[in-house]
Amino acid sequence: MDIPRGSGQKVLIVDDDQNHVQLLKKRLEANGYQTITASDGVEGLNLAIHQRPDLVITDVLLPRMNGFKLVENLKSNPETNSIPVIMMSAVYVTDEDMARGFELGAETYVSKADLALRKPLQEEMLLEAAAQLMQREKTEGVFIPPRVLIVDDDPEATRLITKRLQPEGYQLDIAHTGEEGLEKALSTTVDLVLLDIKLPGMDGLDVLTRIKSRHPEVGVIMMTAYGSEKIAVGALKRGADDYLIKPLDEGEPASTVRLNLEKLRRRREVENAAVKLRQTASPDMEEKERLIQELRQSSIALMDQYNRLLSAEEQNRAYAERLEQMVDERTEDLRRRSQELAAMHSVLTAATRSLDLPEVMMITLGELDQLMGGRAAAAFVVDRNTGRLRLVAQHDLPEEFLRQVSKTPGGDGVFARVLTSGVGENLPDMDEEPSLRGLGGVGAAVVFAMRSPGETVGLILEICDVPRDIDESGWKLLDAIGEELGVVVENARLYENLRQAYLSTIRSLAEAVDAKDSYTRGHSDKVSVYAVAIAREMGLDEKVVSAIRDAGYLHDIGKIGTPDAVLLKRGYLDEQEMHQMQMHPADSCKIVTKAQLPPEITQTIRHHHERFDGTGYPDGLKGEAIPLGSRILAVADAYDAMTSDRPYRDGLSADGAIGEITRCIASQFDPQIVEAFLKIREGVEARLLQEASVTIATEAPMSATELDQKD
Ligand SMILES: [Fe+2]
Repeated sequence: MDIPRGSGQKVLIVDDDQNHVQLLKKRLEANGYQTITASDGVEGLNLAIHQRPDLVITDVLLPRMNGFKLVENLKSNPETNSIPVIMMSAVYVTDEDMARGFELGAETYVSKADLALRKPLQEEMLLEAAAQLMQREKTEGVFIPPRVLIVDDDPEATRLITKRLQPEGYQLDIAHTGEEGLEKALSTTVDLVLLDIKLPGMDGLDVLTRIKSRHPEVGVIMMTAYGSEKIAVGALKRGADDYLIKPLDEGEPASTVRLNLEKLRRRREVENAAVKLRQTASPDMEEKERLIQELRQSSIALMDQYNRLLSAEEQNRAYAERLEQMVDERTEDLRRRSQELAAMHSVLTAATRSLDLPEVMMITLGELDQLMGGRAAAAFVVDRNTGRLRLVAQHDLPEEFLRQVSKTPGGDGVFARVLTSGVGENLPDMDEEPSLRGLGGVGAAVVFAMRSPGETVGLILEICDVPRDIDESGWKLLDAIGEELGVVVENARLYENLRQAYLSTIRSLAEAVDAKDSYTRGHSDKVSVYAVAIAREMGLDEKVVSAIRDAGYLHDIGKIGTPDAVLLKRGYLDEQEMHQMQMHPADSCKIVTKAQLPPEITQTIRHHHERFDGTGYPDGLKGEAIPLGSRILAVADAYDAMTSDRPYRDGLSADGAIGEITRCIASQFDPQIVEAFLKIREGVEARLLQEASVTIATEAPMSATELDQKD
């Protein structure tokens, strides 16, 4: 390598690392320079003042006075401020150090670590910088101040920028539009452009692209409003050198312009060095090309460092945002999945624990409400005989609408479509679906099928205030619920068929009992009708009413085992006969229990001869310890028996029977049940009369007590 530069110029080396001092000294002297050395900042400053070197090379970390302070003192002293300074960082150069060094007035900045590693490139750069700096001093008279072009349509902004840049001694020019800015940037020699992004006509990004495509060496600093940093980062990717956020901080744009001009100057220096190297005659072309390549890469690496930092920061931020978004999405997904699983679990639990269709459906509708944010819902099953949709459970839907849905065999509109296809529908605006207009409000609806293998057995309707997006997994869940409910419906049907078969058998027995005594034929049916009417009058739940109806039909079935001699005996029974007669409620209970009827029916039957005062049979229960259904049956049973003819006596009149029942309030009957009975009696009797052959007997006095022996 033969690059002779020095011709006796004096270089002051300030460094406390003697090894490094000797290394530098040797290299500089080998290149024709004189050297003087100082081992701390104070000594360096004194030597600079008294010996006026042509160049100062200083370390940053120094005893007594560090490199930054030394530069500051040198540059603020009129006697030394023209001496160029090269700073060396102890480790690799950081942007922050570099910026501070330049701000204080250092001319260049190199890495001491690289020098120590004897990297030829850095060594050459140092020598080149030294030569150029000293050359510059010699030709100071022709030094041209940098030219800065300001492109901004806001006069207030250009005024402020001009005011702040003027003290720096730049040549300033202003353009008010993108077009004007581009023209000036391309037609005159401009070092740096301060370019606003938002401009009338051609915008800043466009101007940037065109400048960089023609003159990549021109520096461009973008200016953008607070909050538009992303656009600025986009501009960096399109070749901008830096950006500033408006409103400008104090000290801006001076600081950023200074930093970027320095970057540009160093870039030029490196490029010049590369050109010179290329021009140097050397037989070793390969080595030269390698050096040029290395120079270029080094230059690019240095220039891109700042942008990389910005870009890395931007990428980190974007990654953090994406990560946050991913975490949010995953959390939401997990929350939704766990909610779906919980819903499915509830439906499955209800389905396995209960054969009661309305109960399972109500639990399901509640879960669906939670899952879908629903405000009203209904479950219908298809009646196999009529093809109509039969309501099984619902909440918050108008009766008229529900009646309409159940009216047409096969359903209307969306109900018919889902029934036929088995495929659910999501209707974001239910007002657009004629079959849902009966709901008369805004909102969205989801209808899906309950399916058992091979057929659609029912439908679920869910009404939401706002439309729900149902993705593939959402439909899978609804289909799974639909299939589970399909099995429930099918099981309930099977169970009901089975129960009906049992009931039918038992009712045949009950009829056989009635048939033993032609006088009591139809008694069980009538007791059932009265009991149901009383229960409804008392406002009891339909499930309870249904149990009471069944109990009414079957309450005397145990009489099948009572000897005819006792059952049909005229007049009073002796003690043994009485005992045989009193066996029938317990026997009835045993028979229906074997038929697996639920306890609310079997217990109602067992206790229908208990008395309110505790003197009844079979268990002598008292007051409210007697099941409510049994207390109701007791009144219905007594009234029908008293008003019916028997072989051994005529029936009482209605008034007579009522009188007898009223007399026995509190002893035999529950007062509140008698009260309800008195309210419904007339209506029921009229209906029974109308329906069939009910004999309302005429005068024939008989007491409730006597009657209680046998019925
Ligand atoms: Fe009885």
